[in-house]
Amino acid sequence: MDATSTLTLTSPAVGAEDGKLGGALSRVDGPLKVCGQARYAADFHLPGLTHATLVQSRVAAGRLRAIDTKSAEAHPGVLLVMTFFNAPRLPEGGQAGIKPPAGRTLSLLQDDRVHYDGQPIAVVVAETLEASRQGARLLQVEYDQEPPQLDFEAAKAQAHPPKEAQGQEPDSRRGDVEAAWSQAAHRLEATYTTPLEHHNPLETHATLAAWDGDQLTLWDSTQYVHGVKQTLSQRLGLQAEQVRVVSPFVGGAFGSKGSAWSHVVLAAMAAREVKRPVRLVVERTQMFGPVGNRPFTQQQFRLAADGGGQLTALEHRVHAETSRIEDWIEPSALISRFLYACDNVATTHRLVPLNVGVPTFQRAPGEATGSFALESAMDELAHQAGLDPLEFRRRNHSDFDAGQQLPYSSKSLLACYDQGAQAFGWSQRNPKPRATRRGDVLVGYGMATATYPAKRLASEARATLLPDGHVRVQCGTHDLGTGTWTLLTQVAADRLDLPPARIALEIGDTALPMAPVSGGSMTAASAGAAVHAVCELLRTHLAELAVTDEASPLHGVPHELIELREGRLRKTDEPGRGETLESLAARHADIDLQVNVRATPGPDAEKYSKHSFGAVFVEVHVDADLGEIRVPRIVAAYSVGNLLNAKTGRSQLLGGIVWGLSMALHEHSLRDPRYGRIANANLGEYHIPVNADIPDIELIIVPEDDPHIGPLGAKGIGEIGITGVAGAIANAVWHATGRRIRDLPISLDSLLHAQR
Ligand code: MOS
Repeated sequence: MDATSTLTLTSPAVGAEDGKLGGALSRVDGPLKVCGQARYAADFHLPGLTHATLVQSRVAAGRLRAIDTKSAEAHPGVLLVMTFFNAPRLPEGGQAGIKPPAGRTLSLLQDDRVHYDGQPIAVVVAETLEASRQGARLLQVEYDQEPPQLDFEAAKAQAHPPKEAQGQEPDSRRGDVEAAWSQAAHRLEATYTTPLEHHNPLETHATLAAWDGDQLTLWDSTQYVHGVKQTLSQRLGLQAEQVRVVSPFVGGAFGSKGSAWSHVVLAAMAAREVKRPVRLVVERTQMFGPVGNRPFTQQQFRLAADGGGQLTALEHRVHAETSRIEDWIEPSALISRFLYACDNVATTHRLVPLNVGVPTFQRAPGEATGSFALESAMDELAHQAGLDPLEFRRRNHSDFDAGQQLPYSSKSLLACYDQGAQAFGWSQRNPKPRATRRGDVLVGYGMATATYPAKRLASEARATLLPDGHVRVQCGTHDLGTGTWTLLTQVAADRLDLPPARIALEIGDTALPMAPVSGGSMTAASAGAAVHAVCELLRTHLAELAVTDEASPLHGVPHELIELREGRLRKTDEPGRGETLESLAARHADIDLQVNVRATPGPDAEKYSKHSFGAVFVEVHVDADLGEIRVPRIVAAYSVGNLLNAKTGRSQLLGGIVWGLSMALHEHSLRDPRYGRIANANLGEYHIPVNADIPDIELIIVPEDDPHIGPLGAKGIGEIGITGVAGAIANAVWHATGRRIRDLPISLDSLLHAQR
């Protein structure tokens, strides 16, 4: 395959059952990846390739006074130093953000303002990576500094509501929280915080930009090829047809790659200047600033229940930091609007702008942080009410989404509670905290509810019968490492009753039919539904061709009597009568054998509240003297509609749980309160779990049939795994030690501090 052709992947031969939906088809991209032949954005090579280094601001607020580029330009191999002072002017100043996730407020060297430490302020392009890095080091930047606003508490005075919270109103209110609060038997008032975190997929962001006349091609690590195309054409003043974005493989994304950030446009600008292809790889330390983060949240709760353990009041007020250049809200309170039955609920979201990088979607944005706070508060109130935390949740189970005023399309949360508790042995929990000890170790059990919306967007797809009887399936969606290559192969194989090895799949390219952002856990539901529909259409189309073709043995058969089985069209009640796809293809020109669809969510989409649910049970061991926390055991039960691939689906859920543990106990970007620089912008000091930190995780998939969710019956599994886990761990730590830690991550020192 040369750099400019679209990648086609076909599964190795496997048993027919593996290709069915729900089967455990192994990754069709596995062999390429294992052999090092899967090419990611930075692996592509073009003649005349040059290398770019992104240069970042070293102050958090102010103006660029001057940048001395002379030594950099004199360095051997340096081809271009692009700064505000010489960068080409873009139409509309390049700052008018289009709606996320397709585009964000970018820093494209169009003005001299500095809004945060780490903001892109220059790009150095050279013959080699080494020369571009050295050139970047040789820049002399002078700033007119201004005092940055980095104090969350001080800036809270100017907090403002966002325009929306992930498509919903930022504030909500039902019933009368004040009245219910004043009459309640049990009350909890508590504040929880979650820290600044940065996405660190194994593959950092990377872009290769190449111009051919007025045509721009980008090889980009992205969750949204069509969104990158839109952003690039808008920012550079091009027609959409002038831009192509290619992204066959992505080495992890998690929301950070849902938006096209500054470096993508800067690479294209630089390539136009040097008139050669430019490769720009974001360095690991650069992942901590100009490409999004999960913002710090402060979540204030008032939660009350009556004497029977029924929730009577819930108030969830969220303050989250954002940048000074763009409002982006972590919508942590959305889950409080529906997760439990409660008549009196008030939620608010407020933004606290600081001189920091723009925050963004990070795996289960809102639910991951919000479920930590809500599930901690539920645990605290259960204890106060003298109820087992699981029993407390059962009593407050909601059969109806009172936030949206909609019935659930399906909900199997009670079964998740039951099956998870059973497998975990929850009934053995001693209700008294700090009462279970094994030697020097305090043992704690904790649990929490998990949930994530089941969303779907319109997607297109194309299917073509090839002369050799293979079917080419094309869809401009993406595989972030999540298994899309495999899953879509499986959907097509299942629908066409072909072995997976006869599906030739193409994804990850704007030359392919439009698909939405691969975010929000909706790729299977969106692109999967399009592939499902296009395969159904192809089958009908081929049957139609056969029955109207005098040369076909099926000529004249009513097409409701035609079925496609094992590569043959045949008459349902006379299976011997029929023909193979190859023989049909041999008689028809290519143009006849291609179908296109645009699959949109049906009318049911608006009539139901659609969510996945789950229950997470955790055991923790805490060293009584040293506060060291170990997690020996996690059991999690999920109801996610149909699980489409038993192998990749399991991996997705496990990955989410691991990240939940990481959120609970490890991750924390430390920002210098004076200068706004991230002090641990590397994977040595930004803590993440290693294998030794991860226990055996038992997954239970609760079967669920959801007739309203889409043709595949799948709810999406990318994000629910992270939700609930941090809450369950915090609750288990409390149960083990009697210490309630309300600020993540829970560390040794926070625990020892709480013991004093
Ligand atoms: Mo996800 S945070 O929508 O990639």
